[in-house]
Amino acid sequence: MLDNFLGNEQQQLLNETSFCENWLVDSDSICKPYFSEEEPIFPEPYRLYRFLTDLETVLASIPDDNRRIQAIIPLVRQLLYSSSWLHTNYIEPSPKVAWSVKMLYQEPDYPITVQTVAWLPGKMSPIHNHATWGIVALISGQEKNTFWRRSPDSQNQNRIEQVGEHILTPGDIIGFMPDAIHSVEPLGNEPTITFNIYGVTDFARRYEFDPVKHTAKNF
Ligand SMILES: [Fe+2]
Repeated sequence: MLDNFLGNEQQQLLNETSFCENWLVDSDSICKPYFSEEEPIFPEPYRLYRFLTDLETVLASIPDDNRRIQAIIPLVRQLLYSSSWLHTNYIEPSPKVAWSVKMLYQEPDYPITVQTVAWLPGKMSPIHNHATWGIVALISGQEKNTFWRRSPDSQNQNRIEQVGEHILTPGDIIGFMPDAIHSVEPLGNEPTITFNIYGVTDFARRYEFDPVKHTAKNF
């Protein structure tokens, strides 16, 4: 249970902010609620092309990943509010693979990956970091995020330990710092549909972790 991983102060904060829909996962994989100072107002409709352009503006003007995430989350919320066609713009996963990725926009040297991802119940992701900033918005279903952080000992440089978990419900948006480590799993009987964006991956720093063998391998 989440309570097992939180101090009293943090648990109280989460209780007080249970209505929060924005979350930030820091470099130690600690998940905290995030309240944006002001929800921007855009002329309707806020189309995907305008969102993509605004992302470039944010990246050019804000070098810090944490501040970038905070600036982009309100844009994602506005996009998904305004562009409901995105909610059903995903690839139906095959039962064999159980998950699918649909790229929504690609262009050489455009520094952002934009996609919708679908997961069938019963499939858990590997434990991984992304080695770039990322933002995930839950469109439908329920997704359990389990958070991990590096905890090396003298024998195992790549030892990790679980530090928390959080269940995302539709309307939730979560941002990840590049070193945040997580695994995800759909809950219930419904597939999870998410809208995901990521910066430029540093593949040399992106790992899948094995919490039993204490190994980390690039993927
Ligand atoms: Fe991930």
